[in-house]
Amino acid sequence: MDFKLIIYEKSDGVATITLNRPEALNAFSKDVVEEVLLALEDIKNDENVRVVILTGAGEKAFSAGADIKAMIGMNALKARELSLMGEKLCLALENLEKPVVAALNGYALGGGLEVAMSCDLRVASETAKMGQTEINIGLIPGWGGTQRLTRLVGKTKAKELVLTGKIIDAKTAEHLGIVNMVVPADKFREAVRQFALDLAAKAPVAVKVAKALINKGEDIGLESALALEREGFGVVASTEDLQEGVKAFMEKRKPLFKGK
Ligand code: CAA
Repeated sequence: MDFKLIIYEKSDGVATITLNRPEALNAFSKDVVEEVLLALEDIKNDENVRVVILTGAGEKAFSAGADIKAMIGMNALKARELSLMGEKLCLALENLEKPVVAALNGYALGGGLEVAMSCDLRVASETAKMGQTEINIGLIPGWGGTQRLTRLVGKTKAKELVLTGKIIDAKTAEHLGIVNMVVPADKFREAVRQFALDLAAKAPVAVKVAKALINKGEDIGLESALALEREGFGVVASTEDLQEGVKAFMEKRKPLFKGK
């Protein structure tokens, strides 16, 4: 695969997509989005990949959001296309049947934060900074920020962040529940890799079903969500991996899961 704007690597069950436009703080142009979608398609079809890391090149940014320079003269129809493009990317991450870790190495602003919030888990460097900053250029979040941020942090803080456009540091983001953990900058890449490798060792079917249940359960009533969970529980219980997990527990060893 010939990518120009991302770096795509696979090893030890972990696929890493690195947004590689550091001169523009890894802003998402149409071409960047298309390349990430292509990589996600490959990941979907590669059963050796169990976990995905999405990160940014350089020390300064995960992504500073949608490409502002492409917004000159943008009309309503073009803006709708831009919104749909980001939505497609965010849904592809959210619906991928493998866990995605956003590794926030620096700024995650506007669409950058929206993409990160579509990932399953977020690990931030202590130097990372986050914000829904669209309001500062006279815009609103268009890649799900008004919805996913609100679901993550509640209405009070979501309104504060979206209406003021302020940028918060990694510790504040952790406190609000936007990121799962904050890691010292000098250990960041290593810590993210270890986190991903630990996830890759879990039972893939159980991980896939748990991810889907948590995502889908948000949009339906509790009883329907519990019914879905019950069915998912049955599916996961029918895997060879459950038998391996139970056997490993009894034999006091680490399980070796195969995704079957
Ligand atoms: N789009 C295009 N280029 C961008 C960019 C973006 N979102 N963010 C930064 N860049 C470019 C800058 O224009 C600059 O390029 P030049 O050297 O050619 O001028 C380069 O990246 C470095 O940026 P700065 O010189 O601005 O770096 P800084 O350290 O002074 O500031 C920053 C860093 C605070 C992140 C600042 O760049 C900034 O505020 N960026 C915009 C962030 C933003 O508002 N994002 C939201 C975009 S809209 C959106 O995402 C809508 C949506 O919901 C999908």
